[in-house]
Amino acid sequence: MKKPSPLHLEDLPAGPPAGTKLCNLADLPEHGGKEIIFREDRFRVSVLVQKKDGIIKVYDNRCPHAGTPLNMFDENFLNIEGSHLICRTHGALFNHESGKCILGPCKGEYLREVAVDMTDTAIFTR
Ligand code: FES
Repeated sequence: MKKPSPLHLEDLPAGPPAGTKLCNLADLPEHGGKEIIFREDRFRVSVLVQKKDGIIKVYDNRCPHAGTPLNMFDENFLNIEGSHLICRTHGALFNHESGKCILGPCKGEYLREVAVDMTDTAIFTR
């Protein structure tokens, strides 16, 4: 399956305009994750930010299998070994850097990367 193009949040009903700050880099410890939610009327957008091995990735927090958020009630997006992103619903594992599912019901599909700009201190929607 082909990797989808990055998602511009401003194209979504509840998405923030380009240039909106998602988080400060200082808020992301190594192997730290964050969920950022935007709401407007009945629409909701959830974004996950995950740092691993010094690399920060930002994805639409929506599993390609059934569309649920990868996390359930906290901001833990990595499996117990800290090696892959994991969907808590049915356990799909995703490569952190590519977003590709390497094990589980959506094997071969991708998380949708969010289009962002990173400065030395923060991450902004593009
Ligand atoms: S919804 Fe993620 S593995 Fe099924």
